[in-house]
Amino acid sequence: MITQDAVMQALSHVQEPDLGKDLVTLGMIKDVQIDGMAVSFTVELTTPACPLKEMIEKACINAVHLLVSKEAQVTVNLTARTTTRRSDNGDLLPGVKNIIPVISGKGGVGKSTVAVNLALALAQEGAKVGLMDADIHGPSVPIMMGIRGERPRMMDVNGKGMIIPIEKYGIKTMSIGLLIDEKQAVIWRGPQVSSALKQFITDVYWGELDYLIIDMPPGTGDVQLTLVQTVPVTGAVVVSTPQAVAASDARKAIVMLKQPQINVPILGVIENMAYFTPAELPENKYYLFGQGGAQQMAEQFELPFIGELPIIQSIREGGDSGMPAVLDGGSPAREAFMELSAALVRNVSIRNAGTPTQVVQMQS
Ligand SMILES: Nc1ncnc2c1ncn2[C@@H]1O[C@H](COP(=O)(O)OP(=O)(O)OP(=O)(O)O)[C@@H](O)[C@H]1O
Ligand SMILES: [Mg+2]
Repeated sequence: MITQDAVMQALSHVQEPDLGKDLVTLGMIKDVQIDGMAVSFTVELTTPACPLKEMIEKACINAVHLLVSKEAQVTVNLTARTTTRRSDNGDLLPGVKNIIPVISGKGGVGKSTVAVNLALALAQEGAKVGLMDADIHGPSVPIMMGIRGERPRMMDVNGKGMIIPIEKYGIKTMSIGLLIDEKQAVIWRGPQVSSALKQFITDVYWGELDYLIIDMPPGTGDVQLTLVQTVPVTGAVVVSTPQAVAASDARKAIVMLKQPQINVPILGVIENMAYFTPAELPENKYYLFGQGGAQQMAEQFELPFIGELPIIQSIREGGDSGMPAVLDGGSPAREAFMELSAALVRNVSIRNAGTPTQVVQMQS
């Protein structure tokens, strides 16, 4: 006769590969049911976008067959409860589990492109995702998401008028570009930009989100600092291109985030425009701007290397047309972004299982 204990005992031999502990110890096994030879249980993953889903499912089935009974008919239900390590008081962006700014030192390296496509990739895996465009002087999310000129609605939330993000392609999006007059903002000085940003952060109602991706303005100045010091960041993603100038600016951004008084965790580095593959030579990778720079940078700072993103024409076209490339099923661009987002959430889950996020209180 199969017992619950025997099943739990067997599953305690299945390791979560990234977290280095077994599923039972991690509290990931729920609702074990036995009916004769039929065994079913739920595995609660740390993210719906878990790239190890199938591997974990197979390992569970094998463990029951090996350690309980090879006749058992095993049903594994996979669910997810995205983890968080927020330890602030939750005043700001309540209900948002993980806040991930996309940063670069240099402009034009593909932050917005990466932010938009990663947000959509995560949503396609079943996560609840928000995308916040915090680039006051050059907001590109409205064009990339095809929401230019839209007027966000307002809603009363606990007696306060809040801005409701625009829902499109399965994510919630809000750009500061939809709220302010860009021509006006051009002449704003640092403090004005910072105060507009703070208001933007407090006045948008995101609801429950697993991940909020923030498209940051380029550079490493006051505005970037205000942002990462205002919101309880889970970890930043640093985007660079292989060129020496971009890498050197990315280093500056990393050094800034790592300053003891700033201390923003970094989830890893993405190298954009890493190589080019002509359609007629799909096996060839041409590293036009040099190879391995971002990876070396990651190693130098002991940061995870999330991956490289090739130069693909459809990525640029998707950005210009408001239909991001990751939505194009079966395309190389989609594949590349799905891989990057899988690597990213793995790093988030690992981080959430370890050290708590740095809490930095809102400064006024
Ligand atoms: N991997 C890629 N393949 C092809 N084109 C790309 C790729 N990444 C970015 N681009 C294109 O490069 C241009 C700059 O990208 P993007 O606007 O995302 O950069 P950014 O870092 O956000 O710039 P800014 O600093 O101005 O905010 C865009 O036209 C975008 O479509
Ligand atoms: Mg941008």
